Amino acid sequence: MTTGNADYRDSGLAFPDGFLFGSATASYQIEGAAQEDGRGPSIWDTFSRTPGKVWNGDTGDVACDHYHRWESDLDLMAELGLEAYRFSIAWPRIQPTGRGPANEAGLAFYERLVDGLIARGITPIATLYHWDLPQALEDEGGWTNRETAYAFADYARIVGERLGEKIAVWTTLNEPWCSAYLGYGSGAHAPGLMDGGKALAAVHHLNLAHGLAVAALREVVPGDPQFSITLNLHVIRPVGESGPEAARRIDGLANRVFLGPLLDGEYPADVIADTAAETDWSFVHDGDLELIRQPLHVLGVNYYSTVTVRMWDGVSERANNDGHKDMGGTPWPGSRDVEFLVQPGPYTEMGWNIDPSGLEDLLVSLHETYPALPLMVTENGAAFADEEVVEDGERRVHDAERLDYLRRHFTAAHRAMARGVDLRGYQVWSLMDNFEWGYGYSKRFGIVRVDYDTLERTTKDSARWYAELIRQRAIPA
Ligand code: NOJ
Repeated sequence: MTTGNADYRDSGLAFPDGFLFGSATASYQIEGAAQEDGRGPSIWDTFSRTPGKVWNGDTGDVACDHYHRWESDLDLMAELGLEAYRFSIAWPRIQPTGRGPANEAGLAFYERLVDGLIARGITPIATLYHWDLPQALEDEGGWTNRETAYAFADYARIVGERLGEKIAVWTTLNEPWCSAYLGYGSGAHAPGLMDGGKALAAVHHLNLAHGLAVAALREVVPGDPQFSITLNLHVIRPVGESGPEAARRIDGLANRVFLGPLLDGEYPADVIADTAAETDWSFVHDGDLELIRQPLHVLGVNYYSTVTVRMWDGVSERANNDGHKDMGGTPWPGSRDVEFLVQPGPYTEMGWNIDPSGLEDLLVSLHETYPALPLMVTENGAAFADEEVVEDGERRVHDAERLDYLRRHFTAAHRAMARGVDLRGYQVWSLMDNFEWGYGYSKRFGIVRVDYDTLERTTKDSARWYAELIRQRAIPA
């Protein structure tokens, strides 16, 4: 097994013209203004208000106040030289109850944002769903309810009609694995249910929502819209004799359960067999698989760390402590006997292992399986406890660890490209510190620091380094 090491710290490696350097955020994590301009409540408003669910009782009510500060945030992106910005649209700003007519103020906000990006020469990459489901839809079953997929397509159509050709890449969903498994399986994310069968129904309805939304967008967006979905594919390191079997299961449940229907038009037979105790998959209706498999122009890849697995022997004390953040020891549907082992370090502040070779492996293996499919890193970054702002002539944050993490991962991506991967861009997570879901504001992923008392933004060293990378189009020394 390879782990992150100095080999991934190369400088001088050049990226091709057209490669889109940018950064990413998501609506609930940065916008705030949760009750403004007609926005309806989302499942994250409800969840974050439920005692014990989010660290410190934090909510997204104010977050980074980006809803009001969007213009200066865009100026900041332009100062850094970002070429792209990956943001998400809050469904409950567009349709407060998830259905019915559009809320003009919500559409106008995103139109201003997108026009502001274009005016600054920054390419807009929009995600339609980054986890803020309208609460009214959850009240009818959320992603366990097939109707949510149809409602999502209506919402996509509304946004597509308004923003049309201005969006360079339309991403339907962000990390549906999290929406399904953490939302309905482990309960670590909103809406906080713990039911393996429901998690698998959610997987299917999210896949269906993707397919229906792409079809709807294709009808209303003029020109040649580019479609995408962002997945958090798991990079799995098997150990011991039972490692390959454990890896097969997790690869099925985390990766192929999405890639199969999206790109190959089928659910893998082994996944259906593995999950027989949880579901009979009767939520898959005739015709669904044709609807889900839509032409994709680019696959979004979010990468942070790896997982190490083997099968539990049923006798020894069960190791299940490090499976995935937020699964928290909850068995995955279909993989109760898989043990997740402690990863070799070093670790970020999330406790996630740092292993840039995982990114190289992931990109290369996707390219080998789907050679014609362009890829984009839609998230990569790291949380570290870089609280301190120092005055070195100007205000600065010395976040050497994040800078090093990014340098290593850009090196890994470059290596994958040298091995033939068609990688179109890289969106660093995140432009600024923000609401890290169940961890509230306790984990800082930004290349720009946010002071949550004053909401002031301070550029960290990693942002300056990134600006230099973009300027040189090569990894700086
Ligand atoms: C994945 C998610 O898309 C994003 O919302 C989250 O903040 C980061 N990864 C870090 O956990």
